[in-house]
Formats: sequence, C-alpha cells, structure tokens
Amino acid sequence: MVLTNKAKLRLAMSALAFGLIDLSGCVEQEPASSDSDLPDAIVYKTPTCGCCQKWVEHLQDHGFAVQTRDTGQLTAIKDEYGLPGDMRSCHTAEIDGYVIEGHVPAADIKRLLRERPQAKGLAVPGMPLGSPGMEVDERRQAYTVWLLRADNPEAFNNYPARNLE
Ligand code: CU
Ligand code: CU
Repeated sequence: MVLTNKAKLRLAMSALAFGLIDLSGCVEQEPASSDSDLPDAIVYKTPTCGCCQKWVEHLQDHGFAVQTRDTGQLTAIKDEYGLPGDMRSCHTAEIDGYVIEGHVPAADIKRLLRERPQAKGLAVPGMPLGSPGMEVDERRQAYTVWLLRADNPEAFNNYPARNLE
C-alpha cells in the first residue's frame, strides 16, 4: 500500500494526538530541583537601608519570593527572635520557621531548608564586605555563616577572604 503525503501527515498527527510520538526529548526540561516550591521570605528592615535591599534582590535572584516589612523596631524584632547580641546584623528575615539574620547567602538558606537541623536559624553577624548585598568589586572579607543552636552558635559555612590587599 502506498501512502500519499497527505495520508502520512494524517497518520503522524493522530499518533501525536494519541501520545504515540514522544516529543519530551525535544523540549527543554525543568531543572531537577525547581525553585517553585521554595517558601516565602519575610524580611524586616529599615526603609533606608541599601544593603538590605540588595540582599532582598539576592534572594529573589535565587528563587525566593520576598515580602519586605519596613520597620523602625528592628531591635525589638531581634529580641523577639532571641538573637544573641554578637550574632546581629542590619536585617532579620523569617523563612519557613527559621530566622535568617544578616547577609546570609541564598545557597546556605537552601541547604538549611533541605537539611532542616534543630536550630533557630542562620546568622552572618555584622556586615562583611563581599557577602551577598555587600559586594564591592570582587573583594571579600572572610566570614562565617553561623547555625543558631539553642546552646551555642556553630559554624555552618565559611567563606574565605578574596582579593583583599
Ligand atoms: Cu547590611
Ligand atoms: Cu540589611
């Protein structure tokens, strides 16, 4: 039996319609770890803080939906979260029940959410040069991301110095 071109086309189209031809290999696949299921971040900050805003943008660039809450009562909020004085920074965030204090990299927050350790959250005290939102050229001061355990903070990640003279 000889099929006309028209008949071949009709055959191919019905095969497509019945799912007999798999086109999934032709379509770009979503990355395995889609960010669409990341929890929202609530960020408490002062309205005038530029580096806080840049950290918010860093979170958004890494797939977090962010709600910002501008406030003049940051100290009270940090007290409420029970943040030790030497762990404090310019802004305080809450993500899925964890408190995230200061310029914590999004990659560390994602690791926290994957591993879900028994802890209050993460903190980068002060405002280290070169942490997310604190970039100046490519320079970076060495800094530690602390896991806020009930008893004592414990190092969660370390970022070495870079391009510092
Ligand atoms: Cu800051
Ligand atoms: Cu800030």
